[in-house]
Amino acid sequence: MPGDQEKASRARAAQEWEFPGYESPLPVTEKSNPLSLDIDRAGPQQIVHVLQECDAEVFQGDLQPDAEFKRLYSESVIQILVDVADRVKTILREPDDSLIVLSGCGTSGRIAFLLANTFNRMLGWHQQKPVYSYIIAGGDKALLTSQEAPEDSPSLGAQVLKEACVGRKHVFFIGISCGLSAPFVAGQLDFCLNNLDMLTPVLIGFNPAHTARNEPIQGWPHTFRQVTERMLDLQRAQRAFVLNPVVGPEAISGSSRMKGGTATKVLLESVLLLGHRAAHSHVEINRQAVLDCIRDYEKVHEMTYCKTNELASVVGKAGTSLQKEGHVYYLGWKTLGIMGIIDASECVPTFGADFQDIRGFMYGGFSEMNNKEGNLSSLGPQFCIDHKDFVSTILPLIGENDTVIFIFTVDDDFGDVEKLAGQVKKKTSNVQAICHEYKGHCFPVNINNIFDSKVLKISWTPSDADDDFFMRLQWELSTKWMLNGISTGAHILKGKVYKNYMIDLKVTNSKLYRRAIGILQRFTGCQWTQGERALLRVLYGAEELTKEMATADVSRHTQAATTSDRVVPTALVVLQTGCSVSQAQAQLRECSVVRDAVETCLTSGRH
Ligand code: F6P
Repeated sequence: MPGDQEKASRARAAQEWEFPGYESPLPVTEKSNPLSLDIDRAGPQQIVHVLQECDAEVFQGDLQPDAEFKRLYSESVIQILVDVADRVKTILREPDDSLIVLSGCGTSGRIAFLLANTFNRMLGWHQQKPVYSYIIAGGDKALLTSQEAPEDSPSLGAQVLKEACVGRKHVFFIGISCGLSAPFVAGQLDFCLNNLDMLTPVLIGFNPAHTARNEPIQGWPHTFRQVTERMLDLQRAQRAFVLNPVVGPEAISGSSRMKGGTATKVLLESVLLLGHRAAHSHVEINRQAVLDCIRDYEKVHEMTYCKTNELASVVGKAGTSLQKEGHVYYLGWKTLGIMGIIDASECVPTFGADFQDIRGFMYGGFSEMNNKEGNLSSLGPQFCIDHKDFVSTILPLIGENDTVIFIFTVDDDFGDVEKLAGQVKKKTSNVQAICHEYKGHCFPVNINNIFDSKVLKISWTPSDADDDFFMRLQWELSTKWMLNGISTGAHILKGKVYKNYMIDLKVTNSKLYRRAIGILQRFTGCQWTQGERALLRVLYGAEELTKEMATADVSRHTQAATTSDRVVPTALVVLQTGCSVSQAQAQLRECSVVRDAVETCLTSGRH
């Protein structure tokens, strides 16, 4: 563990990104976190430690009363949470003809899906009809795989929302875009602003409004920032709400699935929970109630990272599996199974991973998922998510290089867990467990015996009679942190991260396109246009760009990116060495570790 001096220097580093000039003009969600600069060279223990510190920033209070950035605990943020929870309560008290829509792209849409289902289930317990609906850009396919292109379409976003509103008189719309950037969500918010008699919009994101994305959106007259500003104007009259505390840069720059996803879950669950408690149990919604709720989530952070050693051990195992061309499998139950599926699906766009590298399965598959479009398994192997699929297609191929992680709670049928674990243990000794139990509810047998002591178990103490419901939300968050740590750590150990950048990202929408050029600029010092040319040459596999290629829309470029591999590393080599695209590709093929190839190229280029 770090000493006092190291802690002090880390605290200073943590604040560094707040200085006005730090990586200006990047918004906070795209900056690199000073705490994780060397994460690519860290071992499992250190990786987990850095993630712990970065995640802790989500709950950091105001450093000074007049701090530039609003935080989760800032007065103004807490007040908006109170106001939004109050609106939720109103809808739940008069649910007829009303709807609460949660919407987003990628991870933000997946969290929207998870929470819409969770809170509809809660309504069911109170004999109420479902009130929640979710929207994810790209439809249900995007719950399990990365569908980045629809994120760029404001008209698609507006259209899907319009369809969801049919037959409703009041719609409370919560649009999530961690970076205040997704055109899909901007289109939906704009639709709300044009129909305020029926819709009240809420925007959730983690940048100050003046740094919301301001570049023109293809075929649309507004920018995300303009929409945000219109909402802020309406906030005074409570006709729109903007919830945008800053939670610090991601541990892996721009990877909003991590802190962005976490903060989304915390904020949304807090307002929905408080709204439900007020509507069903007449508990008052006030600042204190919001603060207590967020503090409970902060305790989950402490509880989870108490298990640093155990978590580091799983990270190490998963990393070894990926290094040896093996796989990591998550086998989960109920919503923790969904957390596993979500975490696994995010590795493809983030690390340029193959979908087979890390995969998630859940007990009951689609019958448990409860997604709108039902069983998608006929769409291909990426969509086969049932434990039964695992048993029939993966289990026969499992070997010692694979890591299998069971994720369950004391509320799941332990007989099922034991049976499947027995089957997997016949194939590999590398079987791990992440599990949760709580006071008075312990596992019926010593699970260490079943998992040969490779168990990461957290024993929780419920804060009050509050409910098993809140406990499950906390288990989910805890599991999210652990799985994000495992998949991120394993890819770092595999060499898929350079410094704290996802160097091998997929360039499949306009945000990722700009991010990729930003990475090229950062490491080679090139001009934007030079970086863009190099990127396009790689995307089109062309030594010379034709006029058509050079002048095509970004959407055309990102379409080309769907079939390209190692795009950013190749462009880096091209820029740094002046070699051809095919030479750069050949050079990278010789080096199995992307990070090392990039590092060698950048350091040798400097001599
Ligand atoms: O486009 C890819 C992506 O960065 C996903 O990884 C992310 O979950 C999604 O965009 C949504 O980003 P945001 O919440 O900032 O709109």
